[in-house]
Formats: sequence, C-alpha cells, structure tokens
Amino acid sequence: MTKNTVVAVNIVVAVDGPVAAGKGTLGRRLAADFNFAYLDTGGLYRAVALRMLRAGAALDDVETMVAQAKQVSLSDLDDPSLRDEEVGEAASVISPQPALRAALLDYQRNFAARPPKGAAGAVLDGRDIGTVICPDAQVKLFVTASVEARAERRYTELLRRGEAVDLGTIQADVAARDARDSERAASPLTAADDAHLLDTTKMDIEAAFQAAQKIVAACM
Ligand code: DC
Repeated sequence: MTKNTVVAVNIVVAVDGPVAAGKGTLGRRLAADFNFAYLDTGGLYRAVALRMLRAGAALDDVETMVAQAKQVSLSDLDDPSLRDEEVGEAASVISPQPALRAALLDYQRNFAARPPKGAAGAVLDGRDIGTVICPDAQVKLFVTASVEARAERRYTELLRRGEAVDLGTIQADVAARDARDSERAASPLTAADDAHLLDTTKMDIEAAFQAAQKIVAACM
C-alpha cells in the first residue's frame, strides 16, 4: 500500500429498539441524510411470516421457515401486506426460532458489509443489530419510548391505513410483543453496552431525527 492510500471504511449504523419506537422512520431518514443504504430487518422476519401464511404453513414448521428465509430478497420488503397486523403478529411468533435467526444472519451481515449500489455505509434497524448481527457497528442507537406513546403512534398509523382498531387492544399488543422480544432465549431485545439510548417518548419525529443525526455524526 502506498503512503497516501485512503482506505474506505464502511460505516454501519445499528438502530435497535422495541416495536413502534420509530426505528423505521429514523433509520430511513438517517440513511437518506448520510447517503447510506437502509435495511429494515423486521421486514425480513415479516417477509418469512407472510410467505408462511400464504403457503398455509404452520408457524412452528421450522423446516419451511428456514427454506422460506433462504428465498427472501429485497423485493419481498416492498409488499404492502408486510405491515398488516396479522403478519406482524406471525413475525413475532416465528422470530424467537434460533434456526430462523441463523438463516437470516448472513443476509443481514452481507448487507452491512457490502451495502447495495456501492453506498459508503448502511443503516440496519431491528432488535439485535448492535448485539448480535453487527456487534462492531461504528454507531449503535437504542431507540425507545413508553408503551403508551408507542401504542398511540401505532394506533394513529393503523387508523390512517383505514384499519378498525382499539387503543386498549393495541396497548396490550405492544406490551405483549415487548415481553416476547425481550424474554426470548435467542437474541433477546436488549441495548448493547455501547449503545446510545434515545428515549423519544416526548419527542416528535423531527426532534428524534435531529437527536439521532447528532449522535451518528459525532461517531463518524
Ligand atoms: O420491527 P418489526 O415490528 O417490523 O419486527 C417484526 C418482528 O420481527 C418483531 O416481532 C420482532 C422481530 N424482529 C427480530 O426478532 N429481530 C430483528 N432484528 C427484527 C425484528
């Protein structure tokens, strides 16, 4: 290597946190702002769940789950049905399965190491990005908010989509998903020791983005 060779460092931003904390909106905006690629890893679990539902497979059929996980590609993430409550619920049921998590591991690590279109970095949002998928990520954010605030946001989003919903039911559902995500044996939802905590309970999306952007810029 000559003296003046510049080695390009691929930046990885891990955005973890519980359901409906605003990780997706933040992750997308951070990626656009820094010209990085973006991967919604919850979308991968949802895509496997959707494929299983469409195939009429039982949600504990590990063989089919792993086979479907190996077929998942970026185009799966464009399916609007991924956001359906039923699909989110099925994703939450299958995601504790260690064989499924193992089947999706390389896909996520490859995306982080070699982001599409030669992007100089990647933002991955999920539950275990900073702890398991990319423990060496240069930036780790753990985005959270109270159960009430997250239920309220989810409620507004579902109403906007024209779904008939009840706030109390959504709140119970958010709490149940938190428990499932945090208490599972395989890659439970937990903040990495070196993650920056961002509590967005009292922030709107603009304030949350400004705070996240400052953290990312300071780490680069
Ligand atoms: O973030 P989301 O609601 O789209 O995620 C769907 C499900 O996938 C959720 O129950 C948690 C799970 N998930 C996971 O186990 N690990 C990830 N990295 C991302 C999502």
